[in-house]
Amino acid sequence: MHAYMVLPPASAPGLADPYGRVLDSLRVSVTDRCNLRCSYCMPEEHYVWLPRPSILDYEEIARAVELFSRLGVTRVRVTGGEPLLRQDLPRLLALLAGNGCLDDIALTTNGVLLAPHARALREAGLRRLTVSLDTLRPDRFRSFSRRARLEDVLHGLAVARDVGFRGTKLNTVVVRGVNDDELVEMIAFGRREGLEIRFIEYMDVGGATRWSAADVVSRGEILERLAEHFGEVEPLNDPADHRVPADRFALPDGTVFGIVASTTAPFCGTCGRSRLTADGLWFTCLYGEEAVDVKALLRGAASEREILDVMRARWTGRTDRGAEERLVQLDRGPLYKAEALRERPHREMHTRGG
Ligand code: GTP
Ligand code: 5AD
Ligand code: SF4
Repeated sequence: MHAYMVLPPASAPGLADPYGRVLDSLRVSVTDRCNLRCSYCMPEEHYVWLPRPSILDYEEIARAVELFSRLGVTRVRVTGGEPLLRQDLPRLLALLAGNGCLDDIALTTNGVLLAPHARALREAGLRRLTVSLDTLRPDRFRSFSRRARLEDVLHGLAVARDVGFRGTKLNTVVVRGVNDDELVEMIAFGRREGLEIRFIEYMDVGGATRWSAADVVSRGEILERLAEHFGEVEPLNDPADHRVPADRFALPDGTVFGIVASTTAPFCGTCGRSRLTADGLWFTCLYGEEAVDVKALLRGAASEREILDVMRARWTGRTDRGAEERLVQLDRGPLYKAEALRERPHREMHTRGG
């Protein structure tokens, strides 16, 4: 057992794994398709897609979420691939909003299709949005994501605000030599638009076939660069406390931003997250190799009780700490080569939920 692994009090609610980490959050990927090709996630020319008949329909997803909520999940994040590529996504959000046990339903999107869908998402009950945006420069956006869609994303953000979304977060993956000269501009943009910027360390997740340690800009370096420009940066939570993925900070003028240091300071010790892929595989770690086939259980003859027993057994036997295990290999390269990903597409971040 590791130093951080403190067992919770016997009365702690929810389902705990052997390290006392309680299952509370589920990321639901609704499609493995994406309309961008960000270099940290989908740098290859060819991908193997999940077969259509294997994709869960909305009723199946809602039923799965209902089962997870009975095990203690209260927070659901809908993601992809790009979730807005899925037809009629607001219908799923309305189904999820009808589940009285969830206190947080959020959506992660690249924002390209946000403008046409923001109002319907809001009307379906969605209250929380995270938009991935790595650069504010059109040429760079095009070369980084291989699609010229920056205008659409910016328009999407404006429409989201107009239809009532507040507290929207922007996720910016920082890659050395690509966008690490835009930290100050991103902060200024967030301040102007009322968006909380979260810088994310470049992670060696499945899909990041061009990853190298040299391209990671660490939390420490990001903070140093911002302090050089803005002056003293005040931590709002203890950076040594890894209970939350994003450490939050304030600039002298009060602007708040976050950093997700998943590469240099992983938060596996308190991880209550799990992921359901669009074809119904349940992974208990971002880096996990084995999954529970929830789709087969839902579509087969298993009773609800049997399905819950399988899920419970999986979580209570879970010893995942993928990011921490990666950390000890200092001279590591990418987690998987492209061929290994084509062989098992479930290893891809865009398949298991970004
Ligand atoms: P909220 O607190 O609900 O706003 O979301 P979050 O903090 O979970 O953040 P979000 O879902 O936007 O994820 C932010 C980043 O954290 C991702 O882009 C990943 O880089 C990283 N991340 C997300 N999930 C995991 C995970 O399961 N393990 C690790 N190690 N990193 C993750
Ligand atoms: N490193 C860090 N974050 C990543 N994401 C995908 N790939 C990576 C990676 N290699 C996350 C980003 C993006 C979201 C969709 O998935 O936060 O915004
Ligand atoms: Fe949780 Fe695995 Fe991510 Fe660590 S790497 S925080 S155990 S999902």
